Amino acid sequence: MDREKIDLTPVQKTMLATLYARALDSRAPHSVLGDHTADQAVGSVDYDWRKTGTQAPWDAAMLALRARQLDRWTAEFLATHPQATVLHLACGLDTRVHRLLPSSSVRWLDVDYPEVIGLRRRLLPHPGGDYRMLGASVTDEGWLEEIPADRPTVAVFEGLTMYLHEEEGRRLIQRICGRFAGGQLLFDCFSTRLVRLSRRFWWAGGRLREVARSWHWGIDDPRALAGWHAGLEYLDDLYVVDQPDVDELPAAARLGLRLGARLPGGRDSGRVLRYRF
Ligand SMILES: C[S@@+](CC[C@H](N)C(=O)[O-])C[C@H]1O[C@@H](n2cnc3c(N)ncnc32)[C@H](O)[C@@H]1O
Repeated sequence: MDREKIDLTPVQKTMLATLYARALDSRAPHSVLGDHTADQAVGSVDYDWRKTGTQAPWDAAMLALRARQLDRWTAEFLATHPQATVLHLACGLDTRVHRLLPSSSVRWLDVDYPEVIGLRRRLLPHPGGDYRMLGASVTDEGWLEEIPADRPTVAVFEGLTMYLHEEEGRRLIQRICGRFAGGQLLFDCFSTRLVRLSRRFWWAGGRLREVARSWHWGIDDPRALAGWHAGLEYLDDLYVVDQPDVDELPAAARLGLRLGARLPGGRDSGRVLRYRF
C-alpha cells in the first residue's frame, strides 16, 4: 500500500509531532500510553519524522503524560455520564477514542480541519460505536449546531488553545457552554510567558520557529476563565511535570522533565485544566 504524503499547513502539521510522540512512547519499555495504533499510523505516512523535532525521551513522555491526564478526566466523566456526548476538538490523528473505547451509549465526535479529517479517515481504523468525524475550523460558526444538545457533554481539546487567539478561545468556550445544558471542558494551555518567549525562537530550527509563530494565547490564571460564562466553574489544573506518573518514567525521561521544570518558567509552561458548566 502506498504511504500517505503530507500536504498540510504548518498548524495542521503540528499533529504529526504529537502523533509521533505517542508512537515513540509506545515503543518505550515503560510506555505511558501504550498507543500502538499511533505507531501504526506513523508507519503509514511518508514523512521525515525528524522534522517534528520530537526525539528526546522526555518530549515523548511529557506529551504522553498530558494525553493520559486528559484521558483520565474524560474517562471519569464517562463513568458518571454513560450517555454523554464527547466533543474531541482539534483531534488531529489522536487515538483517544481508540484508547478509551467508550460504550455504544456514548456519542463521540472528532473535529479538526477538513484536510486533517480526510487524512484521519484514511489512516485510522473506525473505532465502532456512535462515532463521527467532522471537518471544520472550531472557530467557524455552524458546526456546533449540527450536534444534538440532548446529553451531558464533555469537550476535550489537547494542543489547541495556543493556536487560537484569546478572543477565539473565549468565543468557543462560550458557544459550547451556551449550546449544551451541562458538562465539562478539559484542555491544556501554555503560559503567556512561553507564548511571548516563542517570538524569540529565532535561534530554533525552521519548523519550530514556524510553529511557534502560530502560538497566540497563553493562560496564567485558569480561574479567570470561569467569568466568561454564567455557570462555568473552574475545577482543577495540573502542571504536566507535577503529575504523579512522572515517578514511573525511566530515568532519562524523568531527569529531562525535572531539569526542564527548573528552568525559569519551565514548570508552569504547560498544564491541563478542568472546568464544569
Ligand atoms: C498540536 S496538534 C494536536 C492534535 C491532537 N489533539 C493531538 O494531541 O495529537 C494541533 C491540532 O489543532 C488543530 N487545529 C488548530 N486550529 C484549529 C481550528 N481552528 N479548528 C480545528 N482544528 C484546529 C490542527 O489541525 C492540529 O490537528
